[in-house]
Amino acid sequence: MDDPAQTKPDPVRAGTSTTGPDRNWPLNSWWVAAHASEVTEKPILRWIAEMPIAFYRTAEGTLAALHNRCPHRFAPLHKGDVEGDNLVCPYHGFQFAPSGQCVNVPTQEKTPAAIRVRSYPVVERYGFVWVWTGEVERADPDLIPADLAYLSDPAWHVVWGYLPVSGNFMQMKENVLDLTHFAFLHKNSAQITGWDRPPAVEVANGRVTFRQLFDMQPLPAIYAVPAGKAPGKLVNRDNWGTQLSPGAHHGAVDMHDPDPGPDGLERFALRIIHLTTPVSIGKTHYYWAMARDHGQPFDFAAMRAQASVIFGEDIEIVEASQEMARCTADHDKAVEFSVAADRAAIEGRRLVQAMVRNEAAE
Ligand code: FES
Ligand SMILES: [Fe+2]
Repeated sequence: MDDPAQTKPDPVRAGTSTTGPDRNWPLNSWWVAAHASEVTEKPILRWIAEMPIAFYRTAEGTLAALHNRCPHRFAPLHKGDVEGDNLVCPYHGFQFAPSGQCVNVPTQEKTPAAIRVRSYPVVERYGFVWVWTGEVERADPDLIPADLAYLSDPAWHVVWGYLPVSGNFMQMKENVLDLTHFAFLHKNSAQITGWDRPPAVEVANGRVTFRQLFDMQPLPAIYAVPAGKAPGKLVNRDNWGTQLSPGAHHGAVDMHDPDPGPDGLERFALRIIHLTTPVSIGKTHYYWAMARDHGQPFDFAAMRAQASVIFGEDIEIVEASQEMARCTADHDKAVEFSVAADRAAIEGRRLVQAMVRNEAAE
């Protein structure tokens, strides 16, 4: 798997999104910084929203997230060791508590109270580590979408992965709000047909949801095989997806076979989770997960392989499109033309842009 620690912002702010070069993410938001298994007593560095953050677990397993720059001589704290609750700077040994307060300067008895680093609210939920990059008082863990609870439900088989993207996080979000690209971008890999008209779109409570119903349509092999069905069998498919927050989206395929046979599944479902965290304007941490409520024995390797091919195609086109956006000296004139099938993506973009604007206006 790719190493998220290697995903750093560009050295200068030279990136752009299709909507321009300015920061297009809100800070008052929970972002996935890591899979829970990646954060241990050995600190790691993640760049989140242009901020270098050291993540670690205390001896008791509690998560901590500190700004990675030691306020003494700016050494990167993630290269230090954890002692009990504290992170020890690798350079001169100043110790920082999870609150960010310096609690020990080895060469003197008294520790000046002014020595501290920013501490970020951080929680573990649904198998991932979420960090809040905005005002601490607003960091309510209940803002992490509860819709994702199936990720920690043993009734679901879950695989996850990480892919670095040299593209803006919003382009990855818009990509999963418009599945009409299946017929073209994934025509060989996914072989999912029927996405040839705009889906229904609903915007409510800060979320956008699209829905496409496929009544008694041939079941693509990618859905049929794990369910023990013959590819091409006529079943009902309800394919929907919701932008849950700036950092989280999930897609769903709820399938219903009205003629399952004696041992066959009548209802079976797939969830595809896209957790997109801005590194900088032109880079994104992309944690993905897939969850199935069926498949015995469950073939994790096949699911992971499938996902990396299909998501690799998405990333390749997003990166190449961003390259096209940034190559122009006349970016302002690079006007996008949207069509009816873009509605969910446009609404998703608007919702996030409104959050950014509202923050700026406060
Ligand atoms: S740079 Fe961290 S203790 Fe000196
Ligand atoms: Fe795709």
